[in-house]
Amino acid sequence: MTASSTVSVRAYGTGWYHALYSGELPVGVVKPLRYFGRDIVAFRAESGKVYLLDAHCQHMGAHLGYGGAVNGDNIVCPYHNWQWRGSDGANAAVPGLDRCIKKSLGTWRTHESDGIIYLWFSRTGDEEPSWLPPTFDESADPSYYPLYPHGVKRTTVNFPPQFAFENVADISHMRTVHGWVDIPVVNAAGAAGPMFFTDFTGAVPTRRGPATVRIENFQWGLGLVYSRIHGLHPTVQVSSITPIDQDSSIYALSIYVGRVDDDGDEPKGRAKAVIEEQARQALNVESLDRQIWDHQMYVENAPLVGDERATIGVFRRWSRQFREDVASGPSAPVAELKVGRAFPLPLSEFRMEEYVAI
Ligand code: FES
Ligand SMILES: [Fe+2]
Repeated sequence: MTASSTVSVRAYGTGWYHALYSGELPVGVVKPLRYFGRDIVAFRAESGKVYLLDAHCQHMGAHLGYGGAVNGDNIVCPYHNWQWRGSDGANAAVPGLDRCIKKSLGTWRTHESDGIIYLWFSRTGDEEPSWLPPTFDESADPSYYPLYPHGVKRTTVNFPPQFAFENVADISHMRTVHGWVDIPVVNAAGAAGPMFFTDFTGAVPTRRGPATVRIENFQWGLGLVYSRIHGLHPTVQVSSITPIDQDSSIYALSIYVGRVDDDGDEPKGRAKAVIEEQARQALNVESLDRQIWDHQMYVENAPLVGDERATIGVFRRWSRQFREDVASGPSAPVAELKVGRAFPLPLSEFRMEEYVAI
């Protein structure tokens, strides 16, 4: 038995994950979160900075996400008003006491870009981020609708990220599950450090006959997939799945769609239809994707056939690095990420051909 078959697909993997949207956390707002089996409190300090801390007060255990308040860069416990500092979780004030207590709350590293607040999870507890989520030019482009709130769809699911995200590498299911006319042609697929990517083209039935669609998928870590969809309405999408615990996750679609008119910030017509259709295919409990993931029994050593070895097989080997100490040695056809390029890189600057083509 190899090490790879002893680590559960439900084990949490190191990396950046979607926590919530910037629009949900204005200055002074406090929110309870639960991810990775831990209770977390999120708040935006008066400085505008977002902090995520372990949720339970170190005095007598009140949950700071329920009734907590922001004071400067601190969060104030609702129970006896002890204050905790956002930056390092340290006790910052105890009412009636002229000193602080030597206690602190666990802290979570955060990153905010394009209206999304990410949190960093470390499997070992001490891994520092070596990458950042990519950014989108579309978020500052007035020809696109704002992401939040209308481009956002979110639900709770009872499977870990990998069940759904193996779809990134599963080219043939585009025909059998999503109704594409044929199995798409793979233009490129491979892995580069913390990123796995696929690029494929195929025909999609539309009311006006088959349309040629090309999808570029960039998966970063186990929980984030960035997709650029060409050939239909201009669309860039983040699919994010963050474990709540080992049985359930928050699955969110964050969709930037091109405007159909200049009128307001709420997508209309084709743009609205794109968002609804993406949500229908991935999130709706009656969609075939959801039914499969909801009831799937994960097959660890699946008998992959044909191109699946170069797509799903590579994906599975690539995904191990986030959950376990993977010994170096022959595994996936891996290309080097270009060193010296600053992160976060705009998604539009990723060029598949710079990596590996199969
Ligand atoms: S429980 Fe938080 S201040 Fe007492
Ligand atoms: Fe799918």
